[in-house]
Amino acid sequence: MQLPDGPKLHPIVQSINWIRKPLQYLEECAEKYGNIFTIKLSGVKPLVIISDPEAIKQIFTFQSENINVSSKNNLLLPIIGENSLLLLNGSRHKRERKIIMPSFHGEKVKSYAETICKITEKVASQWEIDRSFPAIAATQTITLEVIIQTVFGFRTGKRYEEIKPLLENWAKILSSPAGASFLFFKFLQIDLGAWSPWGNFIRNRQQINDLLQAEIEDRRAHPEQQGNDILSLMLSARDEAGQPMNDEQLKGELLTLLLAGHRTTAISLAWAFYWINHKIEIKEKLLQEIDSLGENPDPIAISRLPYLTAFCQEVLRIYPVFPTALARMPKSRFTLMGRQFEAGTVLMPCIYLTHHREDLYPNSKEFRPERFLERQYTNYEFIPFGGGVRLCVGYALAMLEMKLVVATILSKYELALVDNELPKPKRTGLSLAPSNGIPLVMKGLRESKKILTLN
Ligand code: HEM
Repeated sequence: MQLPDGPKLHPIVQSINWIRKPLQYLEECAEKYGNIFTIKLSGVKPLVIISDPEAIKQIFTFQSENINVSSKNNLLLPIIGENSLLLLNGSRHKRERKIIMPSFHGEKVKSYAETICKITEKVASQWEIDRSFPAIAATQTITLEVIIQTVFGFRTGKRYEEIKPLLENWAKILSSPAGASFLFFKFLQIDLGAWSPWGNFIRNRQQINDLLQAEIEDRRAHPEQQGNDILSLMLSARDEAGQPMNDEQLKGELLTLLLAGHRTTAISLAWAFYWINHKIEIKEKLLQEIDSLGENPDPIAISRLPYLTAFCQEVLRIYPVFPTALARMPKSRFTLMGRQFEAGTVLMPCIYLTHHREDLYPNSKEFRPERFLERQYTNYEFIPFGGGVRLCVGYALAMLEMKLVVATILSKYELALVDNELPKPKRTGLSLAPSNGIPLVMKGLRESKKILTLN
């Protein structure tokens, strides 16, 4: 069975394109080969890239038992270990997801709204007037603290003070060029002592592991002290057979939630601050809507605002954090888009190309939140969080966080872009982030709050 057509370049050249100019490369391939094509990267099986919503629907509706997502060669395995939802397949994935998912349910997540607003206010209050700073650094400080408080349940105390710099370091390494290189080049994963990049990374991870182990033991010993955080919920959750998660599973999932949950949301927020300050009419519309809620609005009311919601969706559409969803490898032969495929073929639903289909998103390069108010997109047309049995666990938290951070900052501070030019999305590890980090400057506090209603 032949794979769909695709570029004939040497796999090394294709790998370089994939790492250095992923969006441009995807666009060039789509232009030449259409909405299904095969790319060949060095050292991995060929990837079938798909941007047809009907085909994506079929892929997203495969059940956990019928697909593999991870293999022994998975890039993330040395980073987060084998006890991670991202790397589990089949029944174990299904079981663990069932345990974790209720903690991220929309209603549950809303109880974190106050925490998100408080963290945002604290970070923003430290900005100095007329001093520039990269938006991505500020949003990453916010999203990391949100994970530490809402997922790990650390707010104050000795363990919080100990683990916070370690988690910051872990996150920093992974978003640095050295961290990105570990992912793609296994030969760099050698421990040459604490001063070598990989040596530093694994020592740091071990220290985090030890602190998490101590925290889990303390919480098991004092169940009466359990809080409202996701670790507490995971500690008390049971699977269908009444079994709890063991310590290794808990630690693996905590690191997964940190890895999957903080940089992704920080990148999306950095883009949000670019678009807000790039297009004055967008800022005005957002402010009108937020101001219409009056003084000290209820965070839940903020999360329901239609234009703010459409704005966040457009941010996630135009430059999705991940160019593709996780690869799916069906366990038996299948037919897709009228073609026969062998078991084990690697299918990659392409988020970026789907979000730039002209039939779905006319003038797709234009940033226009209104498109989400004018049309209802299906779960196979708008896919920033992937879909089906692997749908992002944290999507409700991420959407809530984006809306609350934008509304909190916008309603109190005057910010401006240092450079109005649109930055290029650049690969940092598996994600794509704005190349310049979006430098912003704080102009001062917002002067007057006009109470207006949208027409
Ligand atoms: C704007 C922010 C975010 C974006 C764009 C995003 C995007 C994604 C995408 C595309 C996937 C793969 C889904 C698939 O292949 O079908 C994914 C999976 C995942 N995400 Fe997110 N994510 C975000 C925030 C979060 C947050 C806040 C958390 C948790 C705190 C989180 C936890 C996860 C986990 C655990 C998975 C693996 C799910 C599984 O394999 O079953 N993500 N995310």
